[in-house]
Amino acid sequence: MANVPPHQDFKHKVHAKAYKTAERNGLVWVYMGDQTNVPDLPPIEATLIPEGEMTIEFIQRECNWLQGLEGDLDTSHLGILHYGGIKQAFGEGESNRHALDNRQPEYVTAETETGYMYAAHRPTEKEGETYWWLAHYLFPFWALPPITPIEKNFLLRGYIPMDDTHSMVLIMIYKNAYPWDRSKVNQRAQGAHNNYEFLPNTTDWYGRWRVPPNARNDYLIDRDIQRTESFTGIDGVTMQDQAVTESMEPIVDRTFEHLAPSDIAINRTRRRIVAAARAFAKDGTAPPSARDASLFAGVRSGQFYTMGKADWIQAARDHIEANPLNLEDAQAAE
Ligand SMILES: [Fe+2]
Repeated sequence: MANVPPHQDFKHKVHAKAYKTAERNGLVWVYMGDQTNVPDLPPIEATLIPEGEMTIEFIQRECNWLQGLEGDLDTSHLGILHYGGIKQAFGEGESNRHALDNRQPEYVTAETETGYMYAAHRPTEKEGETYWWLAHYLFPFWALPPITPIEKNFLLRGYIPMDDTHSMVLIMIYKNAYPWDRSKVNQRAQGAHNNYEFLPNTTDWYGRWRVPPNARNDYLIDRDIQRTESFTGIDGVTMQDQAVTESMEPIVDRTFEHLAPSDIAINRTRRRIVAAARAFAKDGTAPPSARDASLFAGVRSGQFYTMGKADWIQAARDHIEANPLNLEDAQAAE
């Protein structure tokens, strides 16, 4: 306070707001709750693996964080938005091919202590066999997509709110998660075209992790590719996700919605979040996983098969218990 006399100086009484932070494997975590009672970091599997074994990407999205997250909560969009127009993008023995053989799965859902889980299921060509894509929403803004078989599906996507109409998307993928040779399959469908350049950083709040394709240039849509192999004509899985979640406008008016059965996870997750927010507003009650980080242990999404009539939750649990995250193996993989 250079412009007040010493007896009027109150600089020692005014403090900047600060939050406790912690770093692990390349990510900085911020705890914005009660600073005198900070819980442990959640042991989400993808965040336990050394950063050298993970691909970690950020990309800025120009829409509300929940709108972006909801794009991940209907996994059937992969067969339409990302693989649309491609008759068979995948090789023999690659589990993802079922998502193209049958683009109309049905769903089962369940509430969890950490958020919400659901599974898309389809019959395969084998008599009595079912193919499952099990996915989780985790409080507060995480999605665990079932991109690879459940044995090593150590993936994580975060939709971190910057403000109401911008979010920072965090995409983490275990480098060794894919059991198939990714070089032999359709590169466009597999998202290999995600090698976009980022725009130069600027010093303002929105000045990082921005990409050239955006709503102002129609996401650099290619009409020839759209006619032949991609419903969108937009290059790269992430750009396709950006285009559909941003172009509905930054916060879409939900009163005009007609949710379909394939939107069940979106619908139920919204209810879960609203109920959690109301409980917190009423008397400060947070979801169980906000106080007890250990509830995140062993929570995993992924693809698997069952035969006959099977309990999907138990089947997933059996796969995860038989294939626990082994950090020594993860390190040796490189
Ligand atoms: Fe997507």
